[in-house]
Amino acid sequence: MKYFKLNNGKRVPAIGFGTYKITAEADMERSIGFAVENGYRYFDTAKYYENEKLLGKYLKQTGLKREDYQLATKVWPSSFDTDDAKRSLDESLSDLDIGYIDVILLHWYGKDFEKTWEVFRDYRDQGLVKSLGVCNFTIDQMAELVKLGEKPVLDQLESHLYLQDKKTVEFLKENGILHQAWGPLSQGKSNLLDEKILKEIGDKYGKSPAQIALKWNIERSTMVLVKSSNPVRIKENISLFDFDLSEADMDALASLDKNTRFSNDPANQEWLDKIRRG
Ligand SMILES: NC(=O)c1ccc[n+]([C@@H]2O[C@H](COP(=O)([O-])OP(=O)(O)OC[C@H]3O[C@@H](n4cnc5c(N)ncnc54)[C@H](OP(=O)(O)O)[C@@H]3O)[C@@H](O)[C@H]2O)c1
Repeated sequence: MKYFKLNNGKRVPAIGFGTYKITAEADMERSIGFAVENGYRYFDTAKYYENEKLLGKYLKQTGLKREDYQLATKVWPSSFDTDDAKRSLDESLSDLDIGYIDVILLHWYGKDFEKTWEVFRDYRDQGLVKSLGVCNFTIDQMAELVKLGEKPVLDQLESHLYLQDKKTVEFLKENGILHQAWGPLSQGKSNLLDEKILKEIGDKYGKSPAQIALKWNIERSTMVLVKSSNPVRIKENISLFDFDLSEADMDALASLDKNTRFSNDPANQEWLDKIRRG
């Protein structure tokens, strides 16, 4: 396993397990069991996913010691007022029931995000959360946050070969903020994995197109979050650390960029207003 260092000195594995849309109990039990068995030690959820109770339950069931895995969860913008943010965090802590949250995230930028950020700092002082971060923050939105006096440890963004977003990735690197990719396989919403170049490069190393797509992000120092409920894919997606992509591979993969996103644009004010209203 490869690790990335956060700007507060803590470290995170280069790959984490995503749990978006894992809401059925049997699915969670099987997925988390396989994930832990195959070496995943970082789990990503959100209040919005409505699966924290099940995730906490099955993480505990794996028998892993608490200090041997990390968990990230998020606060949705409709809870950005101080009391709502506290309620959201209290519910997450109670539902997860694993003592503390490793990384607490603003799920999107939104009006009053600074109130929630203050709540995050307060919960960190109480030892209930360890690191503070954000999701879906653009460069301009990040500048507003940084003005409050503290950089987040990471920014979790839609990121895959069709949306390489080099400007933001460079900005985050320059500012010591970890770039974390969600939807690294484009959430199955495109034909990315059918790209010929992924198969050609994969064949050289005995790896699948998905493994090449994931490793590309890791090679550019991006942490990836990937979700699967399929035992074969859960194993496949973390079997990435016995080969390295060459510079020529990285260049060839860079040519796939289409600047295309398959989910909401973090700069779209209409979307941000809608999720702030709830
Ligand atoms: N902060 C945010 O706003 C935000 C938004 C979206 C997601 N996220 C986080 O990021 C995590 C990852 O993103 P995501 O789940 O949306 O998308 P993703 O990981 O890019 O794609 C998941 C989809 O790809 C399939 N898949 C997984 N491994 C595969 C493989 N090796 N070959 C072919 N298909 C494969 C999965 O199907 P099977 O399950 O059938 O394998 C699933 O349909 C989420 O689970 C969530 O924790 C955050």
